[in-house]
Amino acid sequence: MAKSVFVLNGPNLNLLGKREPEVYGTDTLDDVRARTETRAGELGLSVEFRQSNSEGELVDWIQEAREDASAIILNAAGYTHTSVAILDALQAAELPVIEVHLSNIFRRDPFRNHSYISLGANGVICGLGAKGYELAIEAVADIIKSQGS
Ligand code: DQA
Repeated sequence: MAKSVFVLNGPNLNLLGKREPEVYGTDTLDDVRARTETRAGELGLSVEFRQSNSEGELVDWIQEAREDASAIILNAAGYTHTSVAILDALQAAELPVIEVHLSNIFRRDPFRNHSYISLGANGVICGLGAKGYELAIEAVADIIKSQGS
């Protein structure tokens, strides 16, 4: 059976829809999950969609992805700007990685302009809300296809 795409979400994203809707929109994380799974299904991919508020759990999941996933889509949320441990896990995973943010991190507080995650990512999508997850699935589908050919 083909390996799934791990879609991992970091801290406070469980509050989507209620949390600063003027910044993050009104879609809940379940809405984002549904959109991601639908687009993945259309492209013949399966998705393992998870959220954690814990840095260690995200590292554990990235290590699991190393064995069990075909690619990683990651919104590390606040850990984007702080976590060397998550970057190290991504670099160890040796998988295609797409970094996603709902908001445009370059149009916000200066500390959000820097991402540790980007150093381990093939590409970055930000500022497009839930649509960014669908685009990330499309990017992953292209990368997986090009690996197979
Ligand atoms: C975020 C942007 C981060 O700066 C922030 O800490 C988040 C969400 C986004 O999706 O826009 O929690 O990753």
